[in-house]
Amino acid sequence: MAEETAAPPDAINLLERDHRLVDRMFAEYEDTEGTDAGRRTMLVGRMIEELSAHADIEERILYPLMRDVLPDGDEQVSHAIEEHDEAKQTMARLEDMTPSDDEFDGAVRTLIEAVRHHVEEEESELFTRLRESVDAQKLAELAAELEAARATAPLSPTEEGVDGTTPLQQAQERQSE
Ligand SMILES: [Fe+2]
Ligand SMILES: [Fe+2]
Repeated sequence: MAEETAAPPDAINLLERDHRLVDRMFAEYEDTEGTDAGRRTMLVGRMIEELSAHADIEERILYPLMRDVLPDGDEQVSHAIEEHDEAKQTMARLEDMTPSDDEFDGAVRTLIEAVRHHVEEEESELFTRLRESVDAQKLAELAAELEAARATAPLSPTEEGVDGTTPLQQAQERQSE
């Protein structure tokens, strides 16, 4: 993995580092699409782990703060969680498939497109505005909280999180509300 420039511990830097990691996995997947089934299985497995943990720590640590500090935080966070929930549903479908399934590459493309869109919105809107609203010390504290939360984050949409439900169950519950 390429080294990023050293940055102080800061919640936004940390989450953007996760984004770059999945960007690289997406690009690698696109290079192998339709060819090496073993490699595609491995890459999708890593995407699911990384995205599951990332969504969980954002939802537990970052998004509650955004709801509080951004004037339209509730609306923004609800929209972001809807996008997370769509990704969780696509990842759950992918967990039941192998690259030999006709729908496999299509489902991965759906996931990649949706996550790229979400990441772009987060970085250009939410993270930028959060950085303007909280100070460096708060962002450093949040970084520590995010790292601690990562230790208990589910690595799959069907793995139970700290509250005893799975990300997929939460997504389905929210959808039925
Ligand atoms: Fe997110
Ligand atoms: Fe994110």
